[in-house]
Amino acid sequence: MGPSDVRPVYGSTKEFFASRAPLAMPVYRGQCVTFKMFGSTFPRMKQKRILVKSSAGRYAVLFGEGILRRASNEIRKLGEFSSTHIVSSPKVWRAVGNRVREGLRLNSSSAVHLFNDAESVKNLGTVERIARSLSHAGADRKSLILAVGGGVVGDVAGFVAAAYLRGVALVQVPTTLIAQVDSALGGKTGVDLPEGKNLVGAFYPPRLVLADLHALRTLPQRQYRGGLAEVIKYGVIADAKLFAFLEANFERILRRDHDALRYFIPRSIEIKADVVSRDERESSLREMLNFGHTFGHALESVTKYKRYQHGEAVAWGMMAAAFLGHEVGVTRADEVSRIVRLVRRMGPLPAWPRVPPAKLIAAMRTDKKTRAGRLRFVLAPRIGQARSYDDVPVRVVERVLHFAPHFVDGTGNRHV
Ligand SMILES: NC(=O)c1ccc[n+]([C@@H]2O[C@H](COP(=O)([O-])OP(=O)(O)OC[C@H]3O[C@@H](n4cnc5c(N)ncnc54)[C@H](O)[C@@H]3O)[C@@H](O)[C@H]2O)c1
Ligand SMILES: [Zn+2]
Repeated sequence: MGPSDVRPVYGSTKEFFASRAPLAMPVYRGQCVTFKMFGSTFPRMKQKRILVKSSAGRYAVLFGEGILRRASNEIRKLGEFSSTHIVSSPKVWRAVGNRVREGLRLNSSSAVHLFNDAESVKNLGTVERIARSLSHAGADRKSLILAVGGGVVGDVAGFVAAAYLRGVALVQVPTTLIAQVDSALGGKTGVDLPEGKNLVGAFYPPRLVLADLHALRTLPQRQYRGGLAEVIKYGVIADAKLFAFLEANFERILRRDHDALRYFIPRSIEIKADVVSRDERESSLREMLNFGHTFGHALESVTKYKRYQHGEAVAWGMMAAAFLGHEVGVTRADEVSRIVRLVRRMGPLPAWPRVPPAKLIAAMRTDKKTRAGRLRFVLAPRIGQARSYDDVPVRVVERVLHFAPHFVDGTGNRHV
């Protein structure tokens, strides 16, 4: 196929970022130092405030080491609350509870509501249990809900905040890498149904996001590595410099080197903040965040959400999307190779499932992002740029699905 065979649905991320002044204007706080690396300067932020525009007004994402120590002051700036209700899981609360307690200076009008944050109970039953627990604890319209945890806690507690008494104030305290760079901002909340993931939910932006680097200390390595897939994604869709930074520093990043974390986490937050500020409801630009996700969601779905962490499925998905881009003449071979090489440095991924391509394509068609049964793919014309396409021929997708399992095997060994 030639380059003109498929046409983008929307303009590219590059045009968006180039043509408009950023809405999410970073205000640098605290110490800001820079260090030279491969001729470029990468700012390392000890603390950073990134603003997000939403239909309910602007809110800040505060990132930094020990940012939770400022929690009480920052929350006071949001207004008066009759009581504070922390929603978290026993596991997360064991890991970060003390830090949160100290930062919030909790008093007698506060309560902690813990629930199991396994994906298998991210459902309406859990929403009901939390809402009833809030009611028993006397939460009213002027109460504040603080969601402390990974994406599951954020999505469930966020949905409870949207629905309880038709909406109470919400502050997100993300404790996984995925939650800090992705799920805690943007306002998507919700739960799963037996019929599919995230099928019931609401757009409900938080009033504040407190992303503390220290909260990641206890995060298991597999979980951390999965989060890196989303960071790679931001590099591919919006920032070639971030991508180059990841290439140059991936071993340090895997070791959680603080200087590296202080660059790529806030940079990822900025990109997500910028995208959702321009397109909260995913009518165009926000769709770019789905790079690697059409394949990734299909892999998760056919393996019943048991084999992969989300980021691992996205990692496979990004390699497949890179190859698909090449097959339809959108992505150059050398760029495909850079994407595949970087993703593989995440380490071994759970193996590609032994299912026929038709089954994966069927899963893609039932994805809630599909419109009128048409397959849509976000592809990368070059690293740092993405576009959405809905006229990719099915036979080309099938071909990619045939050879995708051979990119790498489950142990990370190269097959092609
Ligand atoms: N709303 C959005 O925009 C959005 C975006 C991406 C993902 N999500 C959702 O997020 C969920 C996945 O989130 P996730 O990847 O953060 O995983 P998760 O919330 O399932 O957390 C993973 C595990 O890590 C534990 N954990 C969390 N923080 C910890 C810490 N600091 N120390 C030790 N253990 C910790 C949790 O208890 C859990 O067992 C999915 O349900 C997905 O649908 C939502
Ligand atoms: Zn994702």
